[in-house]
Amino acid sequence: MLNLQKIEAGYGESMVIRNVNLQVKPGQIVCLMGRNGVGKSTLMKSIMGVIKPRSGSISYHDRDISSFPPDRRAKSGIGYVPQGREIFPQLSVEENLLLGLEAAAGGRKKLPDSLFDTFPVLRQMLHRKGGDLSGGQQQQLAIARALASGPKLLLLDEPMEGIQPSIVMEIEAIIESIKRNREIAVLLVEQSLEFATSIADYYYVLDRGTIAAEGEAEHLSEEQVRKHLTV
Ligand SMILES: Nc1ncnc2c1ncn2[C@@H]1O[C@H](COP(=O)(O)OP(=O)(O)O)[C@@H](O)[C@H]1O
Ligand SMILES: [Mg+2]
Repeated sequence: MLNLQKIEAGYGESMVIRNVNLQVKPGQIVCLMGRNGVGKSTLMKSIMGVIKPRSGSISYHDRDISSFPPDRRAKSGIGYVPQGREIFPQLSVEENLLLGLEAAAGGRKKLPDSLFDTFPVLRQMLHRKGGDLSGGQQQQLAIARALASGPKLLLLDEPMEGIQPSIVMEIEAIIESIKRNREIAVLLVEQSLEFATSIADYYYVLDRGTIAAEGEAEHLSEEQVRKHLTV
């Protein structure tokens, strides 16, 4: 479904991502792990087209999307929740969600009811300003906005970061329900080893910009964790 081949990316003179090959299959939950600063967010931005890779190819459903701008990637069915959420604080919850619809392929016009089954708290808060929501509610809003357009691949960059434990469980439950339905594939940047191994089908460990380890999530070994993930 998503296939990265030999991706190199960075900022200005500095190269951050080197020779990365990565695949996500339909319905799969893939976890991207690695210490702070190794390039996880840079790789997510490259997939979404927010930054342009220096070389390599990105294909989605066997189509090369490397030259597509971010909005066209979104229309192709890729949803993206950047690290640190980035909702519009001055807009209402409803307006934030409607902006997510703009990316919908085939021009979906109405917010799907199922969205509020997944995020009941947002239904109650439709007319509040995004900025007045708690951190955890803003994260739910950011995920709901990405889901509003009906993506087939969801990119989630550290969705649990800086969120209180009770909401972490709610967000975990959302990812678990996505996994149960198997209609949306997820590429998840996640630091919690416990959650990653409990939910992911497959994992990649990024270390200094290259893939240092990968495999079935159930086989993520203590040794790999010690070598690549502990500070
Ligand atoms: N906008 C930017 N301009 C220049 N350098 C950046 C920018 N964003 C990130 N970097 C650098 O790229 C490297 C990887 O960052 P990032 O992809 O955010 O890592 P991670 O998400 O794994 O913590 C870091 O050295 C960081 O300082
Ligand atoms: Mg990051």
